[in-house]
Amino acid sequence: MANLLAKKTLDVIMAESAEHGQNTLRRVLGPINLMTLGIGAIIGAGIFVLTGAAAAKYAGPAIILSFILSALACTFAGLCYSEFASLIPIAGSAYTYAYATLGELFAWIIGWDLILEYAFGAATVASGWSGYVLSFLQDYGIRIPPQFASAHGEMLVNYNNHWEHLSRIQDTLISQHINPDSLPHMGAYFDLVAFLAILTVTVILVIGIKESANFNSAIVIVKVAVVLVFIGVVGFYFLGHTGQFWKNWHPFLPPNLGSYGEFGWSGVARGAGVIFFAYIGFDAVSTAAQEAKNPQKDMPIGILGSLVICTILYILVSGLLTGVVPYTSLNVSDPVAVGIDAVPGVRWGSFLVKVGAILGLATVMLVMLLGQSRVFYSMSHDGLLPQWAGAIHPRFRTPWISTSIVGAFVAIFAALIPIDVLGELVSIGTLLAFVIVCAGVWVLRRKSPDLHRPFRTPWVPLVPILGIVVSLILMASLPLSTWLRLIVWLIVGLVLYFTYGKKHSRVQQGLQAAPAATPTQSAH
Ligand code: ALA
Repeated sequence: MANLLAKKTLDVIMAESAEHGQNTLRRVLGPINLMTLGIGAIIGAGIFVLTGAAAAKYAGPAIILSFILSALACTFAGLCYSEFASLIPIAGSAYTYAYATLGELFAWIIGWDLILEYAFGAATVASGWSGYVLSFLQDYGIRIPPQFASAHGEMLVNYNNHWEHLSRIQDTLISQHINPDSLPHMGAYFDLVAFLAILTVTVILVIGIKESANFNSAIVIVKVAVVLVFIGVVGFYFLGHTGQFWKNWHPFLPPNLGSYGEFGWSGVARGAGVIFFAYIGFDAVSTAAQEAKNPQKDMPIGILGSLVICTILYILVSGLLTGVVPYTSLNVSDPVAVGIDAVPGVRWGSFLVKVGAILGLATVMLVMLLGQSRVFYSMSHDGLLPQWAGAIHPRFRTPWISTSIVGAFVAIFAALIPIDVLGELVSIGTLLAFVIVCAGVWVLRRKSPDLHRPFRTPWVPLVPILGIVVSLILMASLPLSTWLRLIVWLIVGLVLYFTYGKKHSRVQQGLQAAPAATPTQSAH
């Protein structure tokens, strides 16, 4: 009988990570590349879109506390990811860590769960991206047929001479007593904008890791600059108008309105659950471990460095945003643009923020798809997915088949399915991965205490336990419907494991080592 908790030995994993040659991934990424990959994946729809609604509906100015709470969960998980990524520098990330510590069934579950984070995450961001592009072009009088810039079946209404997603402006219409039926409206066919965005990013990923990293770094510089301009402009304004800011920050923690999550401390927790999405992505750095020049040293720098930088930026942005305008006016799809627009005399602010958001979301898609294809690459190496999914392109040295299939699937998905609601599924899937990674660090410390760990998570088991607890608290703050979707997704995954994965697993067949790569050329 198959052993569902069979483990992949660390020796085999190390041997795989040391392979080189034409059939392996190219080791070209340095610490700065890894850090910019992290920032590329982190700063996106979360800060540019979700912050406003979370402040307006759940936490008020205390959204800053939600950002700190979420950052705490990510810091505990980030420390655990760093220990694993430097110890087991392989593309499978959380999937491989689970294989080495908890066994094959957990590895499969986490590999399947990571699809929620990376593939669904990329689709969610692509959908947000097309909304931003549509709105940006309309600001400048450029009309694209709106029915090709939204997912199939989504309702669009013409409000203030702009085509908007009804789901995104419903609250605004209700607050202004406008009946959506009284506005011109139409149903969307196919989100061609999101579709093309994902295809473009896929092509870049197929062409090469170095090319992808360079593309990402260039855009990250622009998007961080935009965030810094926001902080600089609004921060400078604050110095001369402290009274206005104090007024907007008061009450800092608006009293609860009677039900869980509507302001008060429960609102802070709910806000943290929602804006957790803004931090997702630092863990994707770990999927580039097999493409890092010096993963032992550089993985923790990439993971923790990107997390620290983004946390500081987020706290500053959310604090200034709720100071410069009343939080009640932030339930809009472009809150950061609304914030900078409130500074008198800054006419270019909203243009700049929208450009930053459009560019910024592009790199989130890039790094998410990178992560997904690397996890599939590792799963195919282990026999849990068909072998072709792990094929490396001889010239580009990228997992081109899995990248292309993932890209095609995500592009179609983003184009056809209205995915507003899937943002929460992305968050719950990521939090589940955090729980398993934190548990894995603790298990491995007990089982193999003497392993040489280039990076050691401090205060084990306290930090992993806190990582597990805070992640579970954030998961608990998500709605029941999201939990049900997660459970259905995991059941589908288990059916696939028992019908395919278990039968083809190399570990089950006693063939731990993946086929040797043809050493026809050096890794560089
Ligand atoms: N953190 C990423 C974003 O906010 C997923 O778009």
